[in-house]
Amino acid sequence: MTSPASRLPASPLPGSPLPGSPLPDALPPDRYPLAVIGAGALGLHFAARLAEVMPVAVIARDDARAARLRAGVRVGDRSFAAEAFAADAPPPADWVIVLVKAGDTAAAAAIAERMQPLGVLSLQNGLTGDLLRAHCRAPRVDQGITTEGAYREATTEGERVQPSGAGETLLPPGFEPVAEMLMRAGLHARVEPDIARARLAKLLVNVAINPLAALHRVRNGALLEPPYRETLDALVREAWPVLHAAGLTLDLDAALARVHAVATATATNRASMLQDVLAGRRTEIDAITGALLRMAARHGLAVPAHEALYHAVKALEPDEALLSGSRPCTGT
Ligand SMILES: NC(=O)c1ccc[n+]([C@@H]2O[C@H](COP(=O)([O-])OP(=O)(O)OC[C@H]3O[C@@H](n4cnc5c(N)ncnc54)[C@H](OP(=O)(O)O)[C@@H]3O)[C@@H](O)[C@H]2O)c1
Repeated sequence: MTSPASRLPASPLPGSPLPGSPLPDALPPDRYPLAVIGAGALGLHFAARLAEVMPVAVIARDDARAARLRAGVRVGDRSFAAEAFAADAPPPADWVIVLVKAGDTAAAAAIAERMQPLGVLSLQNGLTGDLLRAHCRAPRVDQGITTEGAYREATTEGERVQPSGAGETLLPPGFEPVAEMLMRAGLHARVEPDIARARLAKLLVNVAINPLAALHRVRNGALLEPPYRETLDALVREAWPVLHAAGLTLDLDAALARVHAVATATATNRASMLQDVLAGRRTEIDAITGALLRMAARHGLAVPAHEALYHAVKALEPDEALLSGSRPCTGT
């Protein structure tokens, strides 16, 4: 393939450009200030915004996908010609954001390590930090959270990524340069000193809403009404002691209020896990409910309703052997 890297000068350029340096017609740097692994809905949303203010490498699954992205993909109302690379030939980068689905984390971690980064940041749902660290020895490997949203759709003109509302991105301490780059791109981002607590609060919402919506194939808002409301609240009540033992600072009433508020705000949405089930894809249940089950076991707490839900959603997943390397264009 002809990657952007093949157009680089033979001798390295001195250092990465500062975030914010406009390089519209310049050659790509030999070392990118930032790369995004995972050219899906959220990855392309972030990359397109960041590329407006700095060079960004986008790491796609393979050559064919990278070529399509270099030709241009619609993100919102613009065409985004990404500086895209195949996963087997990633360029060096200072910072790497991982935005593959949780089941692809180990592969993404190995790609990230090859890029010799200063830090690798997951913004995935569920808890993926341990898995990333197990497969990637970079100086900093950690997980933040984001409430940015985007989905993919197939149109008559090809694939389009549609941002679905601005959110906030919280990063762990040590990722200040990434927060700075995101802010330069006009995204709401900040370093959160107690990122572990923030991750637990997001996990609480995900373990309550995602699997229940996926199992019953209903939009988020339906979970607030009979016959699902009772189960939703029971899931929060069962998860709360585990998450509290792990460091969640919300009390039970606040935990219930948080889940209800998210279900209300996203009432017309199909949860990403429901979309995965409907599309016959593997879900992120292992990184979401699976993480809760592992935490419960560590604390000696029983979570039978979540355990049952975990197995019910697993039963909806396709046989691993039947999964192919490419996926249809989808929303999240
Ligand atoms: N979308 C949202 O609104 C949203 C919001 C908050 C959090 N998140 C989280 O963000 C993460 C990504 O979500 P998403 O909606 O963007 O998923 P997505 O649209 O499925 O995108 C994931 C992308 O990663 C690619 N990928 C998988 N394995 C790869 C590998 N080894 N090398 C290179 N690329 C690889 C996939 O390629 P293929 O298409 O070829 O499989 C796909 O393009 C998930 O953890 C999700 O829960 C999403």
